[in-house]
Amino acid sequence: MENFKVTSSTKEEIYKEIIPQIEAILNGETDLIANTSNFCAMLKEAFDFWWVGFYFVKQTRDSLQLVLGPFQGPLACTRINYGKGVCGTAWKQKQTIIVPNVDEFPGHIACSSLSKSEIVVPVIRNGEVVAVLDIDSKELNTFSFTDKEYLEDILGKINFDF
Ligand code: SME
Repeated sequence: MENFKVTSSTKEEIYKEIIPQIEAILNGETDLIANTSNFCAMLKEAFDFWWVGFYFVKQTRDSLQLVLGPFQGPLACTRINYGKGVCGTAWKQKQTIIVPNVDEFPGHIACSSLSKSEIVVPVIRNGEVVAVLDIDSKELNTFSFTDKEYLEDILGKINFDF
């Protein structure tokens, strides 16, 4: 098993330090659940985020929904509809959404009352959203353009085929 090491202190430095390690660890494995699980573990360890997890777009009986996948953190809601909450909105808009204060996002779904700010990054393959990465923080204003850029970059490198 490879080591995962984080020694930097600024956000940008941490991303620069962990991206090659994440790539190395994920490149050695093709299984989606294994890789998205380790991805969440590494981000949680590097930044001590409150909640880091994936929702996968899945066909249910009569619609597509986001269904909870691998995550690190407290219990979370399992299904989110298209256009609902921050996750469903990022899915609909096919764009990363940064929420500085969750109380000011209309329709925000509060899985944990302790979450104060959030970023949701859609994973797009062949023009369609196949999953979203959701990260929650217990502080306001945690996420910035830096997170958006690095997270979009790393997510582009994960194999999302089941
Ligand atoms: N806050 C999200 C729901 C998922 S939890 O935060 C883990 C939303 O509004 O979509």
